[in-house]
Amino acid sequence: MNNDPVVLAFCCHYCAYAAADLAGSMRLQYPGTIRALRLPCTGKIEVNYILAAFERGVDGVIVAGCLEGGCHFQEGNLRARRRVERAKELLAEIGVEPERLEMYNLSSAEGTRFAEIAAEMNERIAKLGLSPLRRSAVELESAVQEMDELAQARLAADQRKRAREQAFAALEDDVAYEQAEAQLVGERT
Ligand code: FES
Repeated sequence: MNNDPVVLAFCCHYCAYAAADLAGSMRLQYPGTIRALRLPCTGKIEVNYILAAFERGVDGVIVAGCLEGGCHFQEGNLRARRRVERAKELLAEIGVEPERLEMYNLSSAEGTRFAEIAAEMNERIAKLGLSPLRRSAVELESAVQEMDELAQARLAADQRKRAREQAFAALEDDVAYEQAEAQLVGERT
């Protein structure tokens, strides 16, 4: 990692991360400075989480979610945009350029767009230089891993929650079916 810039891309599982994957499958080159982390939805990103990334020394942060109107959690990406704006204000107050943070919206089919966003942010950070809060390469690598583990834990928790909801809905369907069947049998007898 040395003195290369590090840009974290917090990507929602359903669109932006899928677009990043697609960019990889299409063999589209995007800068190695961009480290994509997968979250269930950008709406799960709080202002503190964004600031924590900067506090740990990353040089830039991308928040990438579904297209407006396309969030799988309804308004998660709209909440994320408001939080990104708030985080920018706070960054400016502590002397970190707010341009180091940007939110993008894209669909899962936009692998090319993901590669463009990565290149755009890479260029912007190259112009700004390393973050004034930059840490040593070792500290930074361990911070990136820590944030990745946190993002993965959030995704796993969300997937468990969804599986429970689906199982519960299936159970309700079974009960409704059995009740309807019992009623039908009762009417025939
Ligand atoms: Fe993609 Fe909410 S699920 S931004």
